[in-house]
Amino acid sequence: MSAYRSHFIDRLGEDELGQNLKVAGWVGRIRDLGGITFIDLRDGRGTVQVVVDPARVSGASDLRMEYCVSVEGVLRLRPEGTENPDLATGSYEVEAQSLQVLSRAAPLPFMIDDRSHSEEQVRLRHRYLDLRRPRMAANLRARSKGISAIRRTLDQLGFLDVETPTLVNSTPEGARDFLVPSRLQPGHFYALPQSPQLFKQLLMVAGVERYYQIARCYRDEDTRADRQVEFTQLDLEGSFWEREDVFSTIEQVMAAVVRDLRGTELPLPLPRITYQESLARYGTDKPDLRFGMEIADLSGAFAETGFRGFAGVLESGGAVRGINIGNRNFSRARLDGLVEQTKQLGAAGLVWVVVKESAGWRSPVAKFLQSSEIAQVNHRLGAQSGDVLLLVADQATLASAVLGAFRLELGRPDRHDEIRFVWVVDFPVFETTDQGDLVPSHHPFTAPVSVQEMRHTPEKAVAQAYDLVLNGSELGSGSVRIHDPETQRTVFEILGISDEEAQSRFGWFLEALGYGTPPHAGFAVGIDRLVAILQNETSIREVIPFPKTQAGSDPMTTAPTRVADIQLEELGLDINAETKAALSQDDDPDSSHPKSE
Ligand code: AMO
Repeated sequence: MSAYRSHFIDRLGEDELGQNLKVAGWVGRIRDLGGITFIDLRDGRGTVQVVVDPARVSGASDLRMEYCVSVEGVLRLRPEGTENPDLATGSYEVEAQSLQVLSRAAPLPFMIDDRSHSEEQVRLRHRYLDLRRPRMAANLRARSKGISAIRRTLDQLGFLDVETPTLVNSTPEGARDFLVPSRLQPGHFYALPQSPQLFKQLLMVAGVERYYQIARCYRDEDTRADRQVEFTQLDLEGSFWEREDVFSTIEQVMAAVVRDLRGTELPLPLPRITYQESLARYGTDKPDLRFGMEIADLSGAFAETGFRGFAGVLESGGAVRGINIGNRNFSRARLDGLVEQTKQLGAAGLVWVVVKESAGWRSPVAKFLQSSEIAQVNHRLGAQSGDVLLLVADQATLASAVLGAFRLELGRPDRHDEIRFVWVVDFPVFETTDQGDLVPSHHPFTAPVSVQEMRHTPEKAVAQAYDLVLNGSELGSGSVRIHDPETQRTVFEILGISDEEAQSRFGWFLEALGYGTPPHAGFAVGIDRLVAILQNETSIREVIPFPKTQAGSDPMTTAPTRVADIQLEELGLDINAETKAALSQDDDPDSSHPKSE
């Protein structure tokens, strides 16, 4: 195959036994047993044991971990009883005939194996070493396979892969923009795209009909386990499309990715739930369907209650909701802890119940309730003796949200590798902020179900918008778009964007909509989240080759860094006095790295 290797390590098997071959890679564990040296040799795809007899092969004693070597030898079966079931090549070993060190490695900052847990800061500082770990290598491979399944499926469906610019002007996806100063037009800025939203809509105006892109997006927001400032979307859009066209396309794509990464068939069509139903039954718009523990509305059971705590809430239009968290054996202190937690989540309080053998309740409120009320709740929640029930009486959405948080904290999927997709449909067009302002629930280019309804009662209007949720994570979002300039103007108006502002920010887009725009709809899937979940990783950082830390920095390259004054001058920029003062305080001649988080 090359001067350095004849086989990738994962290709070594039965057929290669007795063959003279060459493998190349990095030296993992080195053991010396009775004068014979055993090396774990790892390449980008696998690991195999190499046996070196120093009497016949020179160089073994000089080897250190992570030296890059090429080994020529013969593949043979390991002696019986010495097989390693954890390795794909665990029944074999390469008996070295010659060994060539291709390059040496400095002492390592951490062990390159899946067993050691090093601090993330250190891993990211030496990401090139971290990526050598088998788990990380497998994640990179899975990412590549997933993206190629996406491309293959969409190519077959006649989609065009079209690139859109990354130096753009602001796109209103709701996050803060990254700005790039223009040297040629000092005082002017590009923004990095939060998504290709407006460009893909323009491609529909342009007659592209079926567009997709593996698109890099940038959002200046706080990094979390499922959020990076720079991330990747599968972005797509279709003309003459309605919601069902989006769903069937995305479902085919998801089925292909799951097939290639998990080797299983995804049952299609995927289930659907409305936004309202999801909020009521799971307390969230991203329900985790890997386990039950659904929230039940118990208001009916307490319609006539004499218990003031519940009656007051119901009279003022609230609800009593509950979940059964099963047989728990929680101490009194633990139960009281849940009450405390409820208050922190913003609800007035929580009623806990332990169901007695008699089906009666041990609960601080038991004495205020009728046995018929208790029996109804037991029935609604399927309560058995020993079960713990949690009840919250409050404004309905808040009651469900609190119980939804407990559901996630206390519920567990039966199988850790299970995958459960669900479409969440019928999102509202707008959300109301704490300050009472209307903001788009998705983005302002989303079509309402009824323009009429949106004009009259915008806060109640339902959008043709939908999310795809996987295992309780928002995997993707999309909508049918507004395709006439008039409706688009109406949305801007409802959002409090004046005609002049709409014209100056989006005039170019409104103008484009005026040239025979086809009805269109689309979607974007977070590729980092998709791959992370399918690889059973809890953070998307594990599937991004070079991610940023929580502080948005890269410990390896030290980005973001300060720049020379001359660069700022060319851009017509100045760092203000306050920032300068803060920077000079931070200046530490011993440290070449920016502040860590
Ligand atoms: P949205 O803003 O919902 O929609 O983004 C779509 C999907 O992108 C992923 N995502 C992220 N992943 C990692 N880090 C982030 N900071 C981050 N932000 C978003 C999520 C999310 O579901 N233009 C619209 C789509 C459309 O209407 O077609 C959009 O970008 O998985």
